[in-house]
Amino acid sequence: MSIKKITFRILRYKPGLIDPPQFQNFSIEVKPDMTILDGLEKIRLEQDTTLMYRHSCHHSSCGTCACKINGTESLACTTKIKDLKSISITLAPLDGFRPIGDLVVDISPLFTNISEDWSYLKNSENVKSSQMPEGIKEFKRFENCIECGACVSACPVTHKNKGFLGPAALAALSNELKKSPPKAEDLLSMAGNKNGERLCERALNCSRVCPTGVYPARHISDLHRVLKQK
Ligand code: SF4
Ligand code: FES
Repeated sequence: MSIKKITFRILRYKPGLIDPPQFQNFSIEVKPDMTILDGLEKIRLEQDTTLMYRHSCHHSSCGTCACKINGTESLACTTKIKDLKSISITLAPLDGFRPIGDLVVDISPLFTNISEDWSYLKNSENVKSSQMPEGIKEFKRFENCIECGACVSACPVTHKNKGFLGPAALAALSNELKKSPPKAEDLLSMAGNKNGERLCERALNCSRVCPTGVYPARHISDLHRVLKQK
């Protein structure tokens, strides 16, 4: 397996120490199938134990490793180094969230406009030729959204207007509207308020960067259509 040397150019930030943030280069040897997250782990183990980044699942389920990779919001755990076709890779934290350190940001505002009462389950797709276990009619699984924050970082409106509900919350609201028609009045009044879907500029960045096929822009268009018919 061939090994080659590449440079990770990482925006470092340590409050009071590396402040304002500045780029630091790390040169590492990588194997073809390594991901950006593998590269970060290698740097932390071999060169700098103070490097901060988040991860948990390593397979695009938890959303914690989202950051900007060569300027685009992506998951570090599923982005293969070889697919970037570059010997220098720039890493920076997501935009629009309070920086905590290096690639780590405070993602908590993402949840402000997503109600705990909404359902995060949907029917699981059937696997062909699978058999349901006795006594079970259907499987449920979580919605596609993994709360990574990529869409919020990529959205031009969230940076101009801090009140905007944002693509993740509007997508979750739209899902809830489809699943719970009795809640329609409350949900639509939230979607149609001054911080709701009307602020969307149709940049479509949210759908472009979403790693799990939520397509927030499509949900925002759906909400726009429903609100126009009211
Ligand atoms: S909608 Fe997509 S990009 Fe936005 S938080 Fe959910 S998974 Fe991430
Ligand atoms: S580590 Fe969980 S999504 Fe990347």
